[in-house]
Amino acid sequence: MNVLEVKDLKKYYKVKTTFGKSALVKALDGVSFSATEKKTLGIVGESGCGKSTLAKALMRLEVPTSGDLSLAGRGVENFERSEYQSKIQMIFQDPYSSINPRKKAWQIIAEPLMINTELSKAECKARACEMMNTVGLRPELANRYPHMFSGGQRQRIGIARALIQKPEIVICDEPVSALDVSIQAQVLNLLMKLQDEMGLTYLFISHDLSVVKHISDEIMVMYLGKIVEYGSREEVFLNPKHPYTKALIKASPSLDQGLGKHVPLEGELPSPINPPSGCAFHKRCPVATDRCSTEVPTLEMKHGRMISCLEVE
Ligand SMILES: Nc1ncnc2c1ncn2[C@@H]1O[C@H](COP(=O)(O)OP(=O)(O)OP(=O)(O)O)[C@@H](O)[C@H]1O
Ligand SMILES: [Mg+2]
Repeated sequence: MNVLEVKDLKKYYKVKTTFGKSALVKALDGVSFSATEKKTLGIVGESGCGKSTLAKALMRLEVPTSGDLSLAGRGVENFERSEYQSKIQMIFQDPYSSINPRKKAWQIIAEPLMINTELSKAECKARACEMMNTVGLRPELANRYPHMFSGGQRQRIGIARALIQKPEIVICDEPVSALDVSIQAQVLNLLMKLQDEMGLTYLFISHDLSVVKHISDEIMVMYLGKIVEYGSREEVFLNPKHPYTKALIKASPSLDQGLGKHVPLEGELPSPINPPSGCAFHKRCPVATDRCSTEVPTLEMKHGRMISCLEVE
């Protein structure tokens, strides 16, 4: 079942250019997908392609320019904020900047309950301690402040806070990128265990393709605010068809086996203020032809996945 459905989502930011003129940044430019219950949808793409903007729009932290969002078939505009927040939650990249340093661990974890429910303070604290246990933190540490925890433990506080209301969907925006490599695997294993136990649906955003490959059932590859390839993990990562997906995989040191040598991705991501004509990837694309500079590809089903490329038949 689709727990989350996104249709033609756009988010344009108005910005001032160097000469004081106003311009539009098309951070999201017509994104459509759905997330399947209890599965993980991995979202990848270079810095600036719109991943966090998508996360913020889904969390309703940003108002989209246009498009439809629905949870289990119900349009998000029909939800009260508190009800919506009880269903969809987010885990942030930097556990330190996303939590209040002046609050005790249990207060940070219990805050959504205090805001969105009528539960007593004692009940909120009891539930926070229970949740600390679930995420592998000793409840005796409930009265400690964030600076007294390690980076990995702080991320566990962030996870406990996101899960305290037992949401259905959790958006993880680079949840392990700020952690030491040795800690990353522990936190990923915890996230997978919690998914199993609580029946969570994840949207998992990461730069690190090896992490996404490990954790995802489906993968969505974004380029300049658009989806370029989207399908099962097997199709997209083991049999990539889009030149951009291939380039990303080749550029990822731990994933390039079988596809040749580690080759850094050439060229820079173009400015989203003035994206290239035709296919936005054509200037960096090894297989682009003349028509790629004029014709805009559409996302279509080809070879068992959705793909937006004129050169893939
Ligand atoms: N509040 C804003 N005002 C103007 N432009 C913005 C704003 N937020 C994001 N952008 C622009 O939108 C585009 C997408 O940004 P976003 O943060 O979603 O990228 P990202 O894929 O999350 O990148 P990263 O991997 O670095 O986190 C970028 O060009 C960014 O500069
Ligand atoms: Mg981001």
